[in-house]
Amino acid sequence: MTEHAHADSHPHLPSDKELVLKVIPMPADTNGNGDIFGGWVMAQVDLAGSVLPARLICGRMATVAVNEFVFKQPVRVGDLLSFFAEVTRVGNTSMTVRVEVYAERMRAQGRYLKVTEASLTYVAIDDNGRPRPIARTMQA
Ligand SMILES: CC(C)(COP(=O)(O)OP(=O)(O)OC[C@H]1O[C@@H](n2cnc3c(N)ncnc32)[C@H](O)[C@@H]1OP(=O)(O)O)[C@@H](O)C(=O)NCCC(=O)NCCS
Repeated sequence: MTEHAHADSHPHLPSDKELVLKVIPMPADTNGNGDIFGGWVMAQVDLAGSVLPARLICGRMATVAVNEFVFKQPVRVGDLLSFFAEVTRVGNTSMTVRVEVYAERMRAQGRYLKVTEASLTYVAIDDNGRPRPIARTMQA
């Protein structure tokens, strides 16, 4: 089965999530297979996932947990990656965000392939690095 026929091929981007990051991985980000190193993808997902919490937390925050992380398809040099996010939970001091990553292969622009999905939790912290309540009244 080719990747384009794979069940995860996704001709449409999610309409219920927000585009929070676009980036193109470079040769320096590859592993021994020549594909993109998973740790590089995780770092981008961590950054992308923090964008929506940043609006509500309005200050310092820390990633407390990666609840789920699935690499569904390899990422390659030259892919154009689009990171979509949605807040799935707002707690007292923490927020959980779902991130989905879609790749447009170098020679297949406009065809989107879901390569990664993840769920991460971020905690608002004070100047001493201790959890602080999120100002829930600021939620839109
Ligand atoms: C983030 C940190 C300040 C939280 O401190 P803590 O003493 O564990 O705080 P608490 O136990 O009060 O938990 C704070 C919030 O995090 C949530 N949380 C804690 N552990 C969690 C876990 N494993 N998964 C999901 N959420 C978790 C709690 O449910 C709580 O959320 P709520 O207030 O919305 O209910 C502390 O763990 C820390 O500094 N961690 C290092 C963070 C970091 O450096 N991240 C970068 C990666 S190196």
